[in-house]
Amino acid sequence: MVMGRSHCLVSLAFLMVLFVPALSHGSRHRRSGWHLAHATFYGDMQGGDTMQGACGYGDLYQQGYGLETTALSTALFNNGLTCGACFEIMCVNEPQWCIPNAGSIKVTATNFCPPNYNPPNFDHWCNPPQEHFDLSMKMFTKIAIYRAGIIPVMYRRVPCNKSGGVKFEMKGNPYWLLVLLYNVASAGDVTQVSIKGSSNTGWKSMSRVWGQNWVTGSNLVGQALSFQVTTSDGKMMEFDNVAPSNWQFGQSYETYQNF
Ligand SMILES: *[C@@H]1O[C@H](CO)[C@@H](O)[C@H](O)[C@H]1NC(C)=O
Repeated sequence: MVMGRSHCLVSLAFLMVLFVPALSHGSRHRRSGWHLAHATFYGDMQGGDTMQGACGYGDLYQQGYGLETTALSTALFNNGLTCGACFEIMCVNEPQWCIPNAGSIKVTATNFCPPNYNPPNFDHWCNPPQEHFDLSMKMFTKIAIYRAGIIPVMYRRVPCNKSGGVKFEMKGNPYWLLVLLYNVASAGDVTQVSIKGSSNTGWKSMSRVWGQNWVTGSNLVGQALSFQVTTSDGKMMEFDNVAPSNWQFGQSYETYQNF
């Protein structure tokens, strides 16, 4: 059928109304069941290259994530907002690569798998709009044989289970306090953080700089610090006096959590 130009524009506008809201919610909220994607691996069996990723975490062993981690393609990473979310993944549809009866693995998103726009016709798996997991080698080899290289997977979001409380690592300097949040249970991915100093009047919302690093320009040295943390499922938790007034840069402070 031939359509006039104005019809095309009207249809396009209609399609945008239909689809733009769905896209802007990000893949986290779009769907909740199992979905098809692909997976590869990076690093080595000891997790080399998987530490210090784009989520702003540091030593993943020390921080409790270990090697049960994945990097996410642009479509899943959501500019870093998905950092800390947990996924259950299984190898499907490739009997020659999937390990029989391997079941599923569960991983936390700790890194970004960047798109590759170079011409060679391989290694473009993380380009938008593809949903792709670049797993730690240790996790990949639990569900597929190493030589597979890339496998089709089914995945779904699952709640994160963490032992211990939410951890707040103080970074930066007196002029801008940067706080890294990690070991967050349940939804796992933090979408909003507010901070309050003990001699300050109110809550100030922090800005996310990258991954799960949040910043405030207020000088809060010498004040006990409280936080309000919201996760992607909309739950908000308040953590009062997480750090005592003599908190130090470079230190992490922990508090209970019942997300
Ligand atoms: C956490 O525990 C729940 C309930 O047992 C389970 O459904 C979920 O898959 C677990 N998540 C991870 C990341 O292990």
